Amino acid sequence: MVDANSFVGKDVISMRKYNREELDYILKTTDDMMLVEEKGTDICKGKIMASLFFEPSTRTRLSFESAMHRLGGSVIGFATPKGSSIDKGESLADTIKTIDSYADIIAMRHPSEDSAILASENANIPVINGGSGPWEHPTQAVLDLHTIITAKGKIDGLTIALVGDLLYGRTVHSLAVALSNYKVKVYFVSPETLKMREDVIRDVKGKLNYVETSDLKSILSELDILYVTRIQKERFENPEDYEKVKNAYLINKEFLSGSKPDLKVMHPLPRITEIDRDVDNTQYALYFQQVKHGVYARMALIALSLGVL
Ligand code: NCD
Repeated sequence: MVDANSFVGKDVISMRKYNREELDYILKTTDDMMLVEEKGTDICKGKIMASLFFEPSTRTRLSFESAMHRLGGSVIGFATPKGSSIDKGESLADTIKTIDSYADIIAMRHPSEDSAILASENANIPVINGGSGPWEHPTQAVLDLHTIITAKGKIDGLTIALVGDLLYGRTVHSLAVALSNYKVKVYFVSPETLKMREDVIRDVKGKLNYVETSDLKSILSELDILYVTRIQKERFENPEDYEKVKNAYLINKEFLSGSKPDLKVMHPLPRITEIDRDVDNTQYALYFQQVKHGVYARMALIALSLGVL
């Protein structure tokens, strides 16, 4: 049986590690955190989270830090490796071994794909992956699922499109894997050159009912959730390749007039041009509400790993 003890001392590295029962438990805990956040708590009093961000971040870092403060704990760390000993050539493994003595839990983002696994191998304290290069972003998937449940009352039975950069976008990798635990229909919508990563396809095959397409317009009327992503400019080797696809999907109010009236548009943010501002004040826009769930989801994951529940 899955209960709070199932998560104590555990890392949060990849959505591949979770089954439906575990996800349901995490999402229920995330739900509980909505009330905890409102009332205030000090269940993490005396605990320290190291927030190690080697890549740019606004929402993930600040919501992790907000989550730890809301739980009554404290935070140390850096928002850029500049100024840390990484700048002097220290390896990630050595940095992590050091932080292990200073904190009770690590929240980390790093440009390398295997960074989260490497950190977990070098730390005795739990490591939470806040984005490992283009590979995974598991806490984002938890907040995305929680946003969907809050808006729609359920996940099972929904038709969901993941749109944009499915090759380099780590949020959609984690979300696709997470959704493979639910009875949903998923469209992977991308330009031909940015199709869903092969290892994700391999892992969801046979579990997830999915269709790959580049044509968003033809499926729009079926959708309950339209999850839009940014083309990940910084991951392209050749800038010309980015130029070719940067405006592949431009979603505006007029385009959405062909959708179900209760369609919800999500985006992990930051958005560049893929969602026009004229969508922001429509009934479709869920992306600014989505960010709030990041605090609840990260409160739940921190509290579960620290074993304070
Ligand atoms: C995403 C990320 O960093 O992967 N942002 C986030 O964490 N909310 C999405 C992106 O950068 O496009």
